[in-house]
Amino acid sequence: MEESKRVEEMNYFELIAWLGIGSSHPGGFPATKQNLGIIRVKPEEYVLDAGCGSGLTACYLAKTIGCKIVGIDINSQMVKKAALRAEKEGVSHLVEFRVADVHALPFSKNTFDLVIAESITVFLDKAKVYQEIYRVIKPEGRVADLEMALIKELPANLRRQLEDCFGSGTNPLLFEEWREAMTQAGFQDVEIKNAQPLTNRGNIILNELKKDWLLIKDLTEKVSRQPGLLPRLQKNAAFMKRYQGYFGFGLFYGRKPTPQRMGIRDWIQRIVRKKI
Ligand SMILES: C[S@@+](CC[C@H](N)C(=O)[O-])C[C@H]1O[C@@H](n2cnc3c(N)ncnc32)[C@H](O)[C@@H]1O
Repeated sequence: MEESKRVEEMNYFELIAWLGIGSSHPGGFPATKQNLGIIRVKPEEYVLDAGCGSGLTACYLAKTIGCKIVGIDINSQMVKKAALRAEKEGVSHLVEFRVADVHALPFSKNTFDLVIAESITVFLDKAKVYQEIYRVIKPEGRVADLEMALIKELPANLRRQLEDCFGSGTNPLLFEEWREAMTQAGFQDVEIKNAQPLTNRGNIILNELKKDWLLIKDLTEKVSRQPGLLPRLQKNAAFMKRYQGYFGFGLFYGRKPTPQRMGIRDWIQRIVRKKI
């Protein structure tokens, strides 16, 4: 992010990239750790972190499990910070970060054993994202997406305020709708794990951020250089606090099925369908 861009002009992704926030998802890094306890990544698995941000989760996985990971993010600032983190944490040999769009992933089909995502699908077209993730996962591979979810329908005026805080297109689904979106893309046995309300421990995110060396390094200086920063962060926090009763989050966890083997009857049906 160029120094000249004002906080007021940055979109939400540019803002968190500029801040270098490492765990910008509901529940923060503690939720990531809980989810990883459920997912149980194996050292031999090849993992994609879709929308990896500044790479905190990917580097943690590499350090603790020793698996190979690719992190992609559309924001080049994020990717630079993630690569720096990997270097500083001594895991560059395991983690690779690339600029890429989750709607058109630069990987062949059936590449990954596991795709993790944390607070990215909520901002995007769910069907397109899940179809693309499905494509790059191997049969029997897993998808694990931590997203904000609605506990009850959000009135239109609050939807507008939410978009005002986090950007247009921000669209959390009800818990069951998330499960349905994943199922529609072809995933099987989709489960909702670790579902919880967004409590005022939402500040847990800020607390975690304070422990993140990458962020705290220059936060004070950024606040003094950009007077609009604190009011903007406070506005988002105040909205979430006031309407927290609407919001929760959970891990949406599914599996890509093994392709059905085609029998002679399937071949005949396919030929007949083509001729009609
Ligand atoms: C709320 S942040 C979450 C980052 C990270 N997963 C985390 O939990 O800290 C959302 C991230 O998604 C990235 N993003 C947004 N749209 C994207 C897209 N179309 N393809 C890839 N990344 C995208 C943003 O740049 C941002 O880093």
